[in-house]
Amino acid sequence: MVTKIVKATGDPALDRDVMEEASGIIRAGGIIAIPTETVYGLAGDALNPESAKKIYKAKGRPSDNPLIVHIAKLDDLERIAYGIPQDAYDLAGRFWPGPLTMVLKKKDIVPMETTGGLRTVAVRFPVNAIAREFISASGGYIAAPSANLSGRPSCTTAQHCIEDLDGRVDMIIDGGEVGIGLESTIVDMTVNPPCILRQGYINREMLNETLYSVEDEREKELSEDDHPKAPGMKYRHYAPKGKLFLVKGERSKVAERINKLLRIHEEEGCNTAVIASHEDRDLYRCEGPVIDIGSLEDEDTIAHRLFSVLRDLDECGAEYIYSECFDTPRLGKAIMDRLTRASGNSVINAE
Ligand code: TXA
Ligand code: MG
Repeated sequence: MVTKIVKATGDPALDRDVMEEASGIIRAGGIIAIPTETVYGLAGDALNPESAKKIYKAKGRPSDNPLIVHIAKLDDLERIAYGIPQDAYDLAGRFWPGPLTMVLKKKDIVPMETTGGLRTVAVRFPVNAIAREFISASGGYIAAPSANLSGRPSCTTAQHCIEDLDGRVDMIIDGGEVGIGLESTIVDMTVNPPCILRQGYINREMLNETLYSVEDEREKELSEDDHPKAPGMKYRHYAPKGKLFLVKGERSKVAERINKLLRIHEEEGCNTAVIASHEDRDLYRCEGPVIDIGSLEDEDTIAHRLFSVLRDLDECGAEYIYSECFDTPRLGKAIMDRLTRASGNSVINAE
């Protein structure tokens, strides 16, 4: 398949031709990488089971891992979901359009292929202007997982989409770099109290300003036969090709420990790299790159750069990568969720 790469601006007048062509592709059952404010998505018609199958195939994703349905106006919600609780309308009023996904009971119009066999549907109303133009032009219901190949870091630029999807999708719409860089917060609204299934830009404190209370899936005791509620959370994810370790503890101890480990790998002739905050980057003695992910005072930048940094590490051929932990106040949980999964849960305590 030849992948057409086009640019869009978010200005409907300038994007008219692109949107006409893109919506024609979607209506014909094709698939397209599109920008959103969180990460790039791999879009197809959410109401067409064949489109869902194509998405799974292009991404190399297991078909039991459901797709998020993206809408471009609140009125469209009730055509795909029922039994919507007042809490969901309250959250929509506060955070939509924006980086929030809500899991609701699905109506029959949404095929089981889209929801990976589940009777619920995850719905998101993105704020990105290109995404909204595209969804509206394409019939209003767009299934879109993150546009990366399964297991790879999510795409925050069109260039990342080209690396992963050239030849696998009909079109890539280049809308420049995304704003946030972490995927949306997912909240299960089919349980009471609602429950966070994936941390994101909208954190628990922000949700609690609107809801009476919200739980966090990761803080619940899981019994042995409990399944993760968001099926995607059980897969290894975001992994760079090299082996990534996170080192936690007091800052000077972390640096001391990482330096010791680097020396061992370097004596064995292995390529190394470090991911450090701007404040601490000079503490490391590493033959490979010490990547400055951003200042601890600027957590938006750390979030925004995270997936790009993980991809850059593949480019430089690092075999052993050590990262500091970035437990920043607002986005720390979401950042550390992605990093922990990228490391396959390899966390070293430097205390
Ligand atoms: O920011 C985002 O959410 C991006 C952009 C493109 O919108 N999309 C995204 O999709 O991150 P994806 O497919 O990479 O992650 C969706 C997650 C998966 O972990 C999936 O298992 C979960 O949402 N999910 C989808 N539908 C669900 C449902 N009905 N119940 C529970 N979890 C669901
Ligand atoms: Mg994903």
